[in-house]
Amino acid sequence: MKTEVVFICRECEAKLLKWMGRCPHCGQWNSIEERVSQVAPKGIARQNEDKLGPVPVDEISYDRRPRLSTGIDELDRALGGGIVRRSVILVGGDPGIGKSTLLTQALGTMSKQGERVLYVSGEESLEQIKIRADRLGISSRSFLVVAENDLERIQELIKTTDASVVVLDSAQSVSCQSVDSYPGSVSQVRHVAACAIETIKKSRSACFLVGHVTKDGALAGPKVLEHMVDTVLYFEGDRGHPYRILRAVKNRFGSVSEIGVFEMTDTGLSQVSNPSEFFLSDRPEGASGSVVTAIMEGSRPILAEIQALVSGPTPGSGRRTCLGVDPQRLALMVAVIEKKLGLALNDQDIFLNAVGGVRATEPGVDLGIVASVISSFSDRIIPFSSMIFGEVGLSGEVRPVAKAPARVNEAVRLGYTRVVGPKKNLDSCALPEGALFIPISHIREAPAILFDGG
Ligand SMILES: Nc1ncnc2c1ncn2[C@@H]1O[C@H](COP(=O)(O)OP(=O)(O)OP(=O)(O)O)[C@@H](O)[C@H]1O
Ligand SMILES: [Mg+2]
Repeated sequence: MKTEVVFICRECEAKLLKWMGRCPHCGQWNSIEERVSQVAPKGIARQNEDKLGPVPVDEISYDRRPRLSTGIDELDRALGGGIVRRSVILVGGDPGIGKSTLLTQALGTMSKQGERVLYVSGEESLEQIKIRADRLGISSRSFLVVAENDLERIQELIKTTDASVVVLDSAQSVSCQSVDSYPGSVSQVRHVAACAIETIKKSRSACFLVGHVTKDGALAGPKVLEHMVDTVLYFEGDRGHPYRILRAVKNRFGSVSEIGVFEMTDTGLSQVSNPSEFFLSDRPEGASGSVVTAIMEGSRPILAEIQALVSGPTPGSGRRTCLGVDPQRLALMVAVIEKKLGLALNDQDIFLNAVGGVRATEPGVDLGIVASVISSFSDRIIPFSSMIFGEVGLSGEVRPVAKAPARVNEAVRLGYTRVVGPKKNLDSCALPEGALFIPISHIREAPAILFDGG
């Protein structure tokens, strides 16, 4: 086969004739890498090339067995209801976040249900895997483990083991001798993933492919894998806190809006089936700037605390810092507050935090943001039993949001008796005795409503 050396930008995939320090197409520095085209992966789409031309869609048969449950509800939920056979699921996440732990636990429960499972580790020894399995309380004869990082051997193992589920931990630690670059480089990772995917699609196994994410997200390259796999899950969390969120960012077989919530403990990850309670467990009482709002994560409402700290005045324009909240959204809300309520926020530093690593990025949190900023700026406390939700438009109007009854019910379930929400959502929400829905149609009304009668 003819070999050809090409230079490709790993950011924008542009093809160049020679190496350059900076990609002329996307402007990224140090993103050009050399690839030898002879060993370029065949491409998954070509797996059917030995078949005869196109076939009528009616004649295509597929495995109609139900999805395979991982035995971990929160993981099944993020996957859209379990593992689809022969699918490839990329699990990305920061180093040490708990990817190996999660997948070892999932294989552990599946092997207990009688499934034959295979854990291929390219970065840990058999002893290390055994220590983890012991800590997680896993022991099973159908849980097979191998420490291997040669791609061809792994492909052979996948074929011969005939496991229901294979974990390949990680894409970065496996290499193929025919690719002329070091393990973990983007060309190696891409080649490894393409070959592993091809092997999986021809086998009867499903595969979890672990991908490391570095701080800049570049070197490790799970981004380049996203379009190749069927499902992409990101395991997120702050290592200073025990909670972890498993988020689907792509799913060919399900919704991407579902999340799974876990807590990291000495004996592994435990599921958090009541995330609202979990995220609100350490909420300070009597603190200005603290507001509880309801966020929809797929079909699930999650109550979360938004905290604002407005401090100033500072010389010049104030800084805006957001954690878990879209900075654009904060900028917009601040502009609306200034214009419609006449609060002078220009020279104030504003820090906004969605507590617990929650991502409060949907429009339903607007009113919560507005309330927390006003509360902190005026140093007035919003009653502890309040839950505040609603979208805020540019003229200060409070707009109705989707799934208002689900949000309100979640608040009532957790004992929040004072719900402040869009007037247009009032009719659809039925509250039990003792709980109150206070409708609001413009943020002009907010100062009087939020602080219980002004
Ligand atoms: N003995 C232990 N007790 C409690 N927690 C532990 C213990 N050992 C490990 N952990 C937790 O597990 C985490 C590491 O989990 P794991 O090895 O699954 O992460 P990972 O995402 O696979 O990491 P890597 O990127 O290095 O492969 C640690 O950060 C720690 O929180
Ligand atoms: Mg690991």
